[in-house]
Amino acid sequence: MSELKGFNQFFRLDGKVAIVTGGSRGLGLHCATGFLLAGAKLVIVTARKAGGPQGIDQAVEKLNALPNIVGKAVGIPANVAETEDIERLVQSTQDIIAKVCGPNKGLDILVANAGATWGGPFEPTPDWSSKKVLDLNVRGVFNLARLYTPLLTKYATQEDPSRIIVMSSVAGSNVPHVGDNGTIMYSASKAAAHHLARNLAMELGRRHVTTNTIAPGFFPSKLANGLIDILGGQEELDRQNPRGRLGVPEDVAGLAVFLCSPAGSYINGEDIALDGGARLSNGRHFKL
Ligand SMILES: NC(=O)c1ccc[n+]([C@@H]2O[C@H](COP(=O)([O-])OP(=O)(O)OC[C@H]3O[C@@H](n4cnc5c(N)ncnc54)[C@H](OP(=O)(O)O)[C@@H]3O)[C@@H](O)[C@H]2O)c1
Repeated sequence: MSELKGFNQFFRLDGKVAIVTGGSRGLGLHCATGFLLAGAKLVIVTARKAGGPQGIDQAVEKLNALPNIVGKAVGIPANVAETEDIERLVQSTQDIIAKVCGPNKGLDILVANAGATWGGPFEPTPDWSSKKVLDLNVRGVFNLARLYTPLLTKYATQEDPSRIIVMSSVAGSNVPHVGDNGTIMYSASKAAAHHLARNLAMELGRRHVTTNTIAPGFFPSKLANGLIDILGGQEELDRQNPRGRLGVPEDVAGLAVFLCSPAGSYINGEDIALDGGARLSNGRHFKL
């Protein structure tokens, strides 16, 4: 028999404080939901829009209505492609943590999830689209990690490290779409995000912060639905996937909770594909 210390807490996040960028909908909201259900004390969600059916306010209301949670969700609007906005977000994060958790608490989890894509034919690509994608998916992630480091390292220890998750994409390691609906700069930005996370793993590991990349395949969402339709619709993509389906909220919430829980504390600098194996089948899953 082995003595596994604290096994009943292996997959729990009791008492933890997290921020999820792009937490108002889609994958970010799935992660925020998982964190609260796993016992987190405070989950801050951020996105640009506060009001409306896609805004942070409605997300926070839904999160705080989750059954049997002990923690709470708070929203802060910010554009995380803008450095000044990130600086303001970090200050507001610090203030909210002090208010909810008292003065001796830092940030345990940063999920850099907000991302942008753009698709279209190669040669006429407008330059603004490349700037938008790179500013949010690469420069924004770099600045989030850099500017949140003081809060992430404040109370982190070797036994209980803080965590950064970079929400990248399988598009960061394969070449998913060229041609009329090509996503070349998106794919390049996600490759950069993967490598940024590996660099952060080295930069911050000794300071008791782990950094890992989640690389999803298709999950129905506002960002992905247009491309899912262009590729033949969800049923067709379900059929092509080795698991017979696209990603569901539980898939990404489960992985994010695991990476941030005690069970994930020795994983650092990994890219974890979350696509049911689709990346291996070259887009088609044939059985001969
Ligand atoms: N869904 C997929 O199939 C898939 C696959 C691979 C990778 N991903 C990655 O997963 C991440 C989340 O995608 P998703 O599918 O969940 O997208 P989504 O449903 O469109 O959600 C995107 C979120 O990011 C926020 N956001 C966008 N630009 C922002 C900015 N400049 N500053 C702050 N927040 C911003 C949005 O809110 P506002 O618009 O209000 O700002 C929203 O909360 C992205 O990084 C994406 O590349 C998704």
